[in-house]
Amino acid sequence: MHRRAIYPGSFDPVTNGHLDILERGLKLFDEVIVAILVNPNKKCVFTVEERIDMLESCLVDYPNARVDTFGGLLVDYAAKMDAQAILRGMRAVSDFEYEFQLALMNRRLNRDIQSVFLMTGLRWIFTSSSIIKEAASFGGNIEGMVPDLVRERLSKKLGHPL
Ligand code: PNS
Repeated sequence: MHRRAIYPGSFDPVTNGHLDILERGLKLFDEVIVAILVNPNKKCVFTVEERIDMLESCLVDYPNARVDTFGGLLVDYAAKMDAQAILRGMRAVSDFEYEFQLALMNRRLNRDIQSVFLMTGLRWIFTSSSIIKEAASFGGNIEGMVPDLVRERLSKKLGHPL
């Protein structure tokens, strides 16, 4: 059986915390599809194309991972892709309530797809795309929190060095 998982998210932008979860997810699954949610109602800093491009560059060393986009229900996309699982990272307790709600709703919608959570590495426990974007918007040092390429793209987007 080919074990395939969907790793969904906004990835606006991808962080080192995301890559840590992906790398560990690849030890459990034969293939992981990093799926960017296309949601025109959500205001993102990077366009979908820019997020695909950054993710693809970050995934060159992971032959069993690929990038895709999806809209609508996550479980419908997972079923369409023949995936058995949804992979999510869990950070501090604050993530739990939302993730629990998401997992229970997804299970109610499709009982054949399992939600699998990996605890984030301690060094990424407070890393999130939003906090990184906030620090970066004020010129804060985000080195080591995102891949260098992402830091460069963010710096270009914000118009100041990071
Ligand atoms: O990285 P994020 O923004 O926390 O990811 C959230 C995501 C994309 C996993 C979630 O919003 C999602 O799955 N959206 C698609 C719609 C859906 O299926 N929602 C859950 C059941 S209603």
